[in-house]
Amino acid sequence: MFHVEHLQGKCSTWNIRLNIDFLMACGYKKAMAHIISITNQKGGVGKTTSSISLSTALAKSGVDVLLIDADSQFNTTSGLNAQNNRTFYDFLWSEGPDFSSYVQATKYPTLSLIGADPRLSGLEFEWSGLDQNKHILKRKMELIEKNYDFIFIDCPPSLGLLTVNALVASKFFIVPLQCEYYALEGLSLLLNTACTIKENLNPDLTLQGILLTMFDSRNTLSHKVVEQVRLHFKNKVFQTVIPRNVRLSEAPSHGIPISDYAPDSSGALAYNKLAEELIERLNFKKAFKENVLQ
Ligand SMILES: Nc1ncnc2c1ncn2[C@@H]1O[C@H](COP(=O)(O)OP(=O)(O)OP(=O)(O)O)[C@@H](O)[C@H]1O
Ligand SMILES: [Mg+2]
Repeated sequence: MFHVEHLQGKCSTWNIRLNIDFLMACGYKKAMAHIISITNQKGGVGKTTSSISLSTALAKSGVDVLLIDADSQFNTTSGLNAQNNRTFYDFLWSEGPDFSSYVQATKYPTLSLIGADPRLSGLEFEWSGLDQNKHILKRKMELIEKNYDFIFIDCPPSLGLLTVNALVASKFFIVPLQCEYYALEGLSLLLNTACTIKENLNPDLTLQGILLTMFDSRNTLSHKVVEQVRLHFKNKVFQTVIPRNVRLSEAPSHGIPISDYAPDSSGALAYNKLAEELIERLNFKKAFKENVLQ
């Protein structure tokens, strides 16, 4: 029914409220950021909602997060009510090591943003003749990754050069999958593309998890999608499932993340849980402790 056979294997509460001041006082030094692309070439599956909500949930716990809007639709940028003359487009074309003017503060002290603008849609063409045009973002990341604990990249709905750049620059990728009939359509292409990138361009690239989104408990089909996806992808599927929640769809029009717009909503609570699960999966708590002890 969901055409999952061909997807198989080409490649093979802890409380997150960390006391950063205490860790700093103990001599905590930042390691390299966990760079995570949130990607699916299928449109409207929850990439942007997950990018904003997960980044905010982590940042509110005191973790330093940079969120990059890599989509010319700039939904992440407007979802955080951010404006900056200098955007991701300018950052990608910039020369020299100074990146600070492209990074925008948000109302959360530990969440920074590099925003997007429509010029990104012309980048594929503009980059087409450049050497090493799949590594442009990776080279930029080397300048900034020491400044953050997490860097999330909200990818556009395509497998074009920007998404390839994001995957070449990332250690992990998360694939939001909408709990609906065509959920798995295109997933094999995405996973095969990621495999090719892993084999040829970025050996570190790892699927961190498939994130089931817009789950409707009253809908039998939603349950079937969850069942099928878990059956085939097993522990590569996040335990946390994001429910369909109208508050999540309202929040962007107010330019406010769900954690502030409706902190007690089922959507906000699910993204808090996802943040905790991600921290656990990455063993991030341990990394913090080891750093303190060094
Ligand atoms: N869990 C949810 N419950 C209800 N609405 C949701 C949920 N997640 C996302 N939405 C809504 O669904 C629409 C698509 O979500 P979103 O923009 O996050 O997807 P996307 O994958 O980033 O889309 P695109 O491919 O266009 O970038 C938006 O209107 C968003 O507000
Ligand atoms: Mg989006």
